[in-house]
Amino acid sequence: MNFLELCQQRYSSRDYMNVGIEQEKIDYILRCAQLAPSAVNFQPWKIRYVSQKADMQKLQQCYNRAWFATVQNCFVVYKNKEVEWVRKADQKPHGDIDVAILTEHICLAAAELGLGTCWICNFDVEKLKEHFASPDYLEPVVLIAIGYPADEAKPKQRKSLSEIML
Ligand SMILES: Cc1cc2nc3c(=O)[nH]c(=O)nc-3n(C[C@H](O)[C@H](O)[C@H](O)COP(=O)(O)O)c2cc1C
Repeated sequence: MNFLELCQQRYSSRDYMNVGIEQEKIDYILRCAQLAPSAVNFQPWKIRYVSQKADMQKLQQCYNRAWFATVQNCFVVYKNKEVEWVRKADQKPHGDIDVAILTEHICLAAAELGLGTCWICNFDVEKLKEHFASPDYLEPVVLIAIGYPADEAKPKQRKSLSEIML
C-alpha cells in the first residue's frame, strides 16, 4: 500500500467490533507515534492507553455518544504545556500542532494494520480531568477511538485542489 492509498484507507470509524487489539499492533502504533516530528523536537506530549472496561465507561461519560459505547480501546493524547515551543515573534504556542501530528501518525499506523480510528476533540475536558488524574501541566487534547471497525468508509468529502491552492 503506498501513502496515497493509506490516506484513502483511513477514515473516521464510528462503530467498532467487539474484538480486542493485539498488543503487537499497539506497540507498532506507539513506535510510529514516537517518531512524530515536533517543533524544536520538544515532543510535548503524553499518551494514555485506555483499555480497561471501567476506564472506558469513565471515558464514555466524557464523550456521551451512542457510537462511542462500541469503543473498547482509546488513546488520550495530552499536551505538555511546560514543554511546548512558543514562537518568540508572536508568542504562538505550537504544542497543539505537535499533538495533532502525533495523533495522525497513530491514525495512519492503525489504518495500515487494518484498524479503525476516530479523532475526538469534542469531549468534556473537565470531566476527563476528574476521572483520570494527571498533573496540571498536561492538557488532554484529543481522544483517539481505536479498534476493528464494524462500519465502512464513506466516500471522502473534500474540497477540490483548486479550492485549497492559493
Ligand atoms: C481536530 C479534529 C477533531 C475531531 N473531533 C471529532 C469529534 O469530536 N467527534 C467525531 O465524531 N469526529 C471528530 N473528528 C473527525 C472528523 O469529523 C473527520 O476527520 C472528518 O469529518 C473527515 O472524515 P474522515 O476522517 O472519515 O476522512 C475530528 C477530526 C479532527 C481532525
